[in-house]
Amino acid sequence: RLLSLNPMMVEKQGFKHFMLKEIYEQPGVVRACLEAYFNTDWNAASANNNSPINLGLPAELYADLEQIQIVACGTSWHAALVGKYLLEQVAQIPTQVQYASEFRYAPSPLTPNTLTIGVTQSGETADTLAALAMEKERRQGKEPKYHARLLGITNRPESTLGHMVPHIINTLAGIEIGVAATKTFIAQLMSFYALALDLAYRRQTVSSDTLEDILKGLQHIPKEIEATLESQEHLTEQLAHDFAETTDFIFVGRGINFPIALEGALKLKEISYIHAEGYPAGEMKHGPIALLDAKVPVVAIAMPGSVYEKVISNAQEAKARDSRLIGVTPVKDGEAAEIFKDLIPVSAVDELLSPIVTVIPLQLLAYHIAARRGLDVDQPRNLAKSVTVE
Ligand code: G6P
Repeated sequence: RLLSLNPMMVEKQGFKHFMLKEIYEQPGVVRACLEAYFNTDWNAASANNNSPINLGLPAELYADLEQIQIVACGTSWHAALVGKYLLEQVAQIPTQVQYASEFRYAPSPLTPNTLTIGVTQSGETADTLAALAMEKERRQGKEPKYHARLLGITNRPESTLGHMVPHIINTLAGIEIGVAATKTFIAQLMSFYALALDLAYRRQTVSSDTLEDILKGLQHIPKEIEATLESQEHLTEQLAHDFAETTDFIFVGRGINFPIALEGALKLKEISYIHAEGYPAGEMKHGPIALLDAKVPVVAIAMPGSVYEKVISNAQEAKARDSRLIGVTPVKDGEAAEIFKDLIPVSAVDELLSPIVTVIPLQLLAYHIAARRGLDVDQPRNLAKSVTVE
């Protein structure tokens, strides 16, 4: 990975592309978020009746909250889907996720006591900004419970979004140069863990033991990502060798890892120009399974937990159609592991925290396939880092 330095390489700190450098910065990004927003002294916080999370958001943003709606585009939309899972399953708040470009023209009917969150790493995506502006405007002059409560999740607090909404969670990822988002995605996930756990604490939707377990698990995540990066670099490079000429890919996951299947497919599309689809594994039998044969590999995210057996049985269905199966799973032996032709082992983290780990091999796989195809990884064709047109 380390190459001899020339002036351009200095900025990349020895990495061949910014994207690879940014993938490797992810443990540090998670650490920065943990330090900024998560109180490590859980005992002291709970003894003082303080939330273990410190996002600096005012109590009125949370008061009598009945619903959350999230608007976003691209990778930020995938982070929002993980956010929905956390906000609903951990904090028990009904949450909708909308494409900003759709919500603008067909917004949901107004609901009271609703928090609207715009997620955009750049803070400049035109559709996301317009959706938030529309939401603010249509709630003006209504009775107080319908007033707009706007929150932005962004990596650029100084952006247009930063000036537009009264409250921000700064995702703290540092500048991201690669057009395909990697470390800003991980940082957005961390914002959603913080928000959902803060709400869960305030609404008492989980026991303090459970909360403590989740918080402790999060503290180990940077090390788990480091271990994952170390074990996977060569593995994903080897897989890239096999798949450089592949034309179609399917990614499947369920539950909290369904959005990661979408993100894995998007990363591959964006930088390698290979057609890829992400699916909730249980939906494969309702159409996409017809696409499968020996030429279409299937990447299955199979983390032990509530949907593990289901994902394995969906993977078996794909295998019966001759697809080459790649498993992103901590399981290294046994019957389940045998159904995968290739295994990309990840750390056995709790299912609830697993997206922060399972997305890493998918980023690396997309990167190595694109690099092997000789493509401009950091500046893919037809894409821009900030999309300021509608
Ligand atoms: C562009 C980029 C995507 C990104 C999306 C949303 O399309 O190519 O990688 O996810 O914009 O960007 P945002 O800045 O709003 O998160």
